Amino acid sequence: MKRTTVTAALPYANGPVHIGHVAGVYLPADIYVRYLRNCGREVIFICGSDEHGVPITLRARKEGITPQEVVDRYHNIIGRSFKDFGISFDIYSRTSNDIHKQTAREFFGDLYSKGAFTEEVTEQYYDSEAGQFLADRYIVGTCPVCANENAYGDQCEQCGSTLSPAELKNPRSALSGVPPVMRPTRNWFLPLDELQKSFLNDYIGGNTHWKSNVLGQCKSWLNEGLKPRAMTRDLDWGVALPDLPGHDAADLAGKVLYVWFEAPIGYISATRELRPNDWQEWWKGDTRLVHFIGKDNIVFHCIIFPAMLHLRGDGFVVPQDVPANEFLNLEGKKISTSRNWAVWLDEYLQELPGKQDELRYVLCSIAPETKDSEFTWKDYQARVNNELVAILGNFANRVTVLTQKFYDGKAPAFSDAHFSAQIGQVRSEIADLHKELCADTEEYRFRDGLTALMNMARAGNKFLAETEPWKLQKTDPEATATAMAFALEILANIAIACEPYLPHTHEKLCAQLNLLPLEFVVRAFWNNGTLLKPFAEGHPLGEPGLIFTKIEDEQIAVQLQKLQYKSMENNTTVPAPEETAAKPEITYDDFAKLDLRIAEIKAAEKVEKADKLLKLTLNVGGEERTVVSGIALHFQPENIVGKQVLFLANLAPRKMRGIDSQGMILMAEDADGKLVFVAPSEAVKPGSSVS
Ligand code: MF3
Ligand code: ZN
Repeated sequence: MKRTTVTAALPYANGPVHIGHVAGVYLPADIYVRYLRNCGREVIFICGSDEHGVPITLRARKEGITPQEVVDRYHNIIGRSFKDFGISFDIYSRTSNDIHKQTAREFFGDLYSKGAFTEEVTEQYYDSEAGQFLADRYIVGTCPVCANENAYGDQCEQCGSTLSPAELKNPRSALSGVPPVMRPTRNWFLPLDELQKSFLNDYIGGNTHWKSNVLGQCKSWLNEGLKPRAMTRDLDWGVALPDLPGHDAADLAGKVLYVWFEAPIGYISATRELRPNDWQEWWKGDTRLVHFIGKDNIVFHCIIFPAMLHLRGDGFVVPQDVPANEFLNLEGKKISTSRNWAVWLDEYLQELPGKQDELRYVLCSIAPETKDSEFTWKDYQARVNNELVAILGNFANRVTVLTQKFYDGKAPAFSDAHFSAQIGQVRSEIADLHKELCADTEEYRFRDGLTALMNMARAGNKFLAETEPWKLQKTDPEATATAMAFALEILANIAIACEPYLPHTHEKLCAQLNLLPLEFVVRAFWNNGTLLKPFAEGHPLGEPGLIFTKIEDEQIAVQLQKLQYKSMENNTTVPAPEETAAKPEITYDDFAKLDLRIAEIKAAEKVEKADKLLKLTLNVGGEERTVVSGIALHFQPENIVGKQVLFLANLAPRKMRGIDSQGMILMAEDADGKLVFVAPSEAVKPGSSVS
């Protein structure tokens, strides 16, 4: 059987990972790898932090620290949270490692020497004061669509338009503020147009086994016709170019490898680091290369990286499969790092400790395998309580607790003389579910795989409900013993079967059953469908205990509130209207509870270390109020003093960044994210009520 090299997209080390990343990439990859390991297949699981690229330099500038400090911080946070969550990488490396820089330079140098690149001189924006070329993100100017004066060269954050630097009016450099000038610069391009003809059309065309969402994307790129793409950039944060014959140092100064050229090579570098002596075996010859990614990464993993590997030749394989997923939304909106609309993995693990498998379960149940899907905290609660607790948890608990009660925690005797028809039927049902579980997992249908797993527990519950051993104990102890022995047998099979999906639960069940899964048993289970037999009579179980507990309404409320406040702190006061669902009808009494007033802004200042927050002092009639408002990106403090605004006066106070916020000013926001005050049509006395 072939070796399998499984990679999961290297997350950018400019922030923690969130549940969208987990559901789309890391969890499916982990399930797949754990499954292969259980089968005894040769597999390595590679990941690490993607530490280059413009977003990291931007984050560093914003926080006034170096890019290295940014990546050090997030590399550690991300690495720790993956570990705690049970993502079983064989290595979690990073692209700022020397071995990576060396591997990436070698790769580039090799393609260069093969004449794979075309050399082109193009005009790029240059900041003559800062003395450097400007990435698109580093150019700001007036948006041609909405006239926002602080639009970026690649995108306007106010109206969401995608832009190119040349479209901005009055462009200026984000570094120095001076207008940039055009300057010629030389870079090396991958001629994807030619590679399409010589390689990519056939390669993509031959991958008929790929998921249709992935194949569809690739084909539409090919239909449009690929264009050459620069593989080097004028930037100071990244992997420096290797020496290139025919060019002196001055030609190469200030240039780095394009992050999307070097980052996928990070998979190779990490393999070298993990297996210094035989890393090549995991990239050449009889190897299946499988990349788990999100849909925004498809072009890089299905087009550019395969082209690079193809050009490299020398036995390197090209990706055999790229089971990319779609996106996960959160509470009706797109997950957004900049709006802080996310559930961060590290925070989840801190706030709901010990609930790794609850999140694995929910994210796998709703994974965006074929289309975008949605996470809500209510649904999380319902799935945990009604499925994990009520089905799997309940089955395990009944079996272990009854064994404790009736048999002092030792497996009772199994006898063929009782319930033989039922037992035979349930056994074959479990065997069928096991087959489904394997086929689904093998073919990346993890949602279905999880359903098959849960159906084993359902079958167990049904068996208990039908045989009711707790009622038989007095009249027919032998039948009771058989039913219980069989229930234990089902639970043991579930304990083994759940390892890829719910590894923490696997550990707990094995401990409770005192089951030491021997390697040959596990192999036979996964490869041949050889199910576990009843425990020998007298086999002592471990301590029983609940494997899942209910999620309380309170816990959900805390998470929902936190989400609202964090996004408010980070951005605007209200969710954008296009994303606001219609609200249920209310009574006049509900409405009358709101103490709405006109307030006047007397003073405004920025809140330290929170670039989105303003601290406002309001005149509300006889009274002065302090409120913290997430509008700093939209208004300069000096421009809003004296304005009259609509104010909700009786909102419970809340501390934000150490400041007591007493009430909330109400804003209007249009679908493009434009934010305006709601003011009376002519000035009124501050404190006037609105009803
Ligand atoms: N950092 C990228 C992202 O988060 C993924 C990089 S994958 C790699 O979208 F292959 F380039 F490493
Ligand atoms: Zn705009």
